[in-house]
Amino acid sequence: MRVLSGIQPTGNLHLGNYLGAIRNWVAMQDGMTGDAQCFFFLADMHSITVHEARGQRLRNVRDMAAALVACGIDPDRSVLFNQARVPAHAELCWLLMGTARVGWVNRMTQFKDKAGKDREGASVALYAYPVLQAADVLLYQATHVPVGEDQKQHLELTRDIAIKFNQDMGRDVFALPDPIIPPATARIMSLRDGGAKMSKSDPSDMSRINLTDDDDLIAQKIRKAKTDPDPLPDNAAALAGRAEAVNLVGIYAALAGETPDQICARFAGQGFGAFKPALADLLVATLAPIRARYEGLRADDAALDAILVKGAERAAAAAAPTLAAAYDALGLIR
Ligand code: ADP
Ligand code: TRP
Repeated sequence: MRVLSGIQPTGNLHLGNYLGAIRNWVAMQDGMTGDAQCFFFLADMHSITVHEARGQRLRNVRDMAAALVACGIDPDRSVLFNQARVPAHAELCWLLMGTARVGWVNRMTQFKDKAGKDREGASVALYAYPVLQAADVLLYQATHVPVGEDQKQHLELTRDIAIKFNQDMGRDVFALPDPIIPPATARIMSLRDGGAKMSKSDPSDMSRINLTDDDDLIAQKIRKAKTDPDPLPDNAAALAGRAEAVNLVGIYAALAGETPDQICARFAGQGFGAFKPALADLLVATLAPIRARYEGLRADDAALDAILVKGAERAAAAAAPTLAAAYDALGLIR
């Protein structure tokens, strides 16, 4: 079993990223026994698909590294690095370009979403993005890839590329990865609109809880979160049709490690006037220690760089045999 996942270092982490992605990474790391290893990386090479000033990009990588460590990724147990420090990703990406078919890449819905109407004006990097992602995964012989629902299609493409490469070369160069998709409760919705997902690209900061929000701001955002005037029922099924209520109960359940049914049973008959302060307290109890660690780590760029350099050395060593096997299978001498 080899676990690998990546996240683009763009902007601040929010509660959706934490509950939907990072917390699962930490759980997988903590559940590993023996010398089994997890690989977690900052997809900074992918981030060139979004224009960013040089200084901001440098800051984003260090901030995201600090955030992951603050959330519980242990750089001694897991291999934590940024993609740009391991050139094997870019190299394997190019080798896989010979295997990936235009027809396969054309089907990727994320490209269609992100390119929008101006398909001709989109960068080639945005188009080839999923091939680099395939390289990220195949380079490490990853078997388990924890990702959000939105990345499932990219993982299917990764498998298709691996199968075709192995078949064309007549050798098993790559292992086939499986996506690990978190439970439905981990889809956190906006605090202002229960029909939209919590996202860093939402223009309203009141729609999300950022990992950097202080205790008062967290309490204020929950106080102002959209709800309805009805009391909570005694079971989660009875919340149907109340998107905002489902979301807040889901957040509570995810933080408490309980089911939405258990939370409903506890608050049955009470309104949001009683539920919201309890939710705010739970959020503060979870996020305050993460924020404190984050601020401490963020103040020391040299220490963060040292973590990433060491991670990159370990990653490069793990990637080397597969990269060599891919070159060799193609009959390329380097
Ligand atoms: P954003 O939507 O804020 O731009 P990203 O697309 O960068 O977030 O996602 C980073 C990771 O966080 C992905 O694994 C994604 O599945 C997860 N994620 C993002 N938003 C949410 C959410 N609202 N609920 C659950 N998981 C989320
Ligand atoms: N594309 C992923 C996202 O937007 C990030 C990513 C890049 C990734 N490479 C990966 C995730 C490899 C899993 C495995 O969230």
